[in-house]
Amino acid sequence: MTAALEVRGVGKRFGALTVLDDVSFEVAEGEALGVVGPNGAGKTTLLDIVAGAQRRDHGRVLLCGVEVTGMPTARRCRLGLARTFQVPRPLGDLTVYETALLAAVRGGGRRGKSAERAAIDALGRAGLLDEGDRRSSGLRLLSRKRLELARALAAGPRVLLLDEIAGGLTDAETGALIGTVRELSAGGVAIVWVEHVIRALTQVATRLVCLADGHVLASGEPAAVLEDPAVRRAYFGRGVL
Ligand SMILES: Nc1ncnc2c1ncn2[C@@H]1O[C@H](COP(=O)(O)OP(=O)(O)OP(=O)(O)O)[C@@H](O)[C@H]1O
Ligand SMILES: [Mg+2]
Repeated sequence: MTAALEVRGVGKRFGALTVLDDVSFEVAEGEALGVVGPNGAGKTTLLDIVAGAQRRDHGRVLLCGVEVTGMPTARRCRLGLARTFQVPRPLGDLTVYETALLAAVRGGGRRGKSAERAAIDALGRAGLLDEGDRRSSGLRLLSRKRLELARALAAGPRVLLLDEIAGGLTDAETGALIGTVRELSAGGVAIVWVEHVIRALTQVATRLVCLADGHVLASGEPAAVLEDPAVRRAYFGRGVL
């Protein structure tokens, strides 16, 4: 079966710094892949390249078998690829509801009532229904992170890229977030979740990839990856695992 997302041999340098070197992985429809790795490992850069926010130096990205390498972000989004940003980006003066609605229209290609329904559904899933009328620029960090998720969901993704959405949540909030992500994957969405909160990630991810210094250090069943001596060395002294 064709993978929902296929990353083949992606490489990226910033000047003399090789941030990603020959990174490959696949995610099937309905699969949740967790991506871990120490700070600066290249995780966000990898999501940027998959989403089209940064150019890769080499390698390919395929979405449901369609080559999207070199395609602008907006086109990838229309093909079903949505992402959240590690650092939330509220949209100017828009309210929370307007932000989700815009995502449903621009990213999801919906109109009228269908767009409104998608926006409200996304706000509900992200736990933001009560804050629909608030200005997005005035939200606190947690709500801004939720809005990132709502914005991505409103586009109706087939592949969803999540960048550190669990940091700073209470146990109850983490539980709700896990429920939402599980529901999405049960509904067939392929998920790539970059996360330092391992206890949240392992409740959802059926497979982990560990990135370190731009390489895939280990990948496979979560417990095996987390116990891998090379993975533990990569994290050693950084207090994450
Ligand atoms: N635009 C850029 N120009 C130059 N260097 C960059 C740029 N973006 C990222 N880097 C560098 O690339 C490396 C990887 O950064 P990246 O943000 O992808 O890491 P990360 O794994 O997401 O880290 P974290 O866990 O802290 O979010 C870092 O050394 C970072 O300083
Ligand atoms: Mg990052």
